Amino acid sequence: MSTNILVFDSGVGGLSILSEIKQVLPHASYYYLFDNARLPYGELQEQELIDGCIDIIGQAVERVAADIVVVACNSASTLILPGLRALLSIPVVGVVPAIKPAAQLSKNKHIGLLATPGTVNRAYTHDLITKFAAECHVERFGSSELVLMAEAKMAQQAIDKALLAALLAPIKASGIDTLVLGCTHFPILKQELQTYLGDEVLLLDSGKAIAARVHTLLNPETDKSGKAALQAFFTTKTISAGLERTLADYGFSSVRPLNGDTTDEMTNVLTDEGTQSKTKS
Ligand code: DGL
Repeated sequence: MSTNILVFDSGVGGLSILSEIKQVLPHASYYYLFDNARLPYGELQEQELIDGCIDIIGQAVERVAADIVVVACNSASTLILPGLRALLSIPVVGVVPAIKPAAQLSKNKHIGLLATPGTVNRAYTHDLITKFAAECHVERFGSSELVLMAEAKMAQQAIDKALLAALLAPIKASGIDTLVLGCTHFPILKQELQTYLGDEVLLLDSGKAIAARVHTLLNPETDKSGKAALQAFFTTKTISAGLERTLADYGFSSVRPLNGDTTDEMTNVLTDEGTQSKTKS
């Protein structure tokens, strides 16, 4: 019996995390929840973000009989994890900016955090910096434009190089030697970021750490009978033809609205323990 892993993000950023998890758990079934109707999260009010995420994640978990949910979004993880864990009876893994390894790896103790405007201003992020990077000078760079640029890249649109250069100029000028990619969209632009910032800046993200955590929480031995499968990609709004092509290339067998037809995946989950509720009553 295959393990059902639900990966969630406001956009395509969570695919950077899903790719890492798939490396360590190649026999699981993957579902993706894409809240594109409310993207970008970095601009949302905190309570609106919390309520909306908990609602749709709860629905998706039940719909696919998820065994674990990965909140592959820093902007959401820094707010919703306590509420989500109170609702669900399955493990919930979140992602937070890789401040700790960055502080350890930086030679000049001058690091940058590139994340959404929401994440750079969160109390959670302030606490992370105080706790793990007290000896470093940490500069925060908030950008929703880069989130939209990663979306455009995955929708097979050209990257606006002039805009990218303008957005990255303050980072390049700052003198940091390590940059935390504190938004899951940004590894999608890693090549472009590295080219502009140069090899002297180390780029760090949390993908491998999240994958290791998911691997630890699941029992990979029981998982070997299933075969790797990218199942449904659930959306909260229609997606572009370009993104649909990318998702097909990526291997998703279907793209469908979260509130649409349930027939296919219900036949899938009702054959095993999918009838058990995944929410606490
Ligand atoms: N991918 C997200 C993150 O890690 C959020 C991007 C957004 O919706 O602003 O923060």
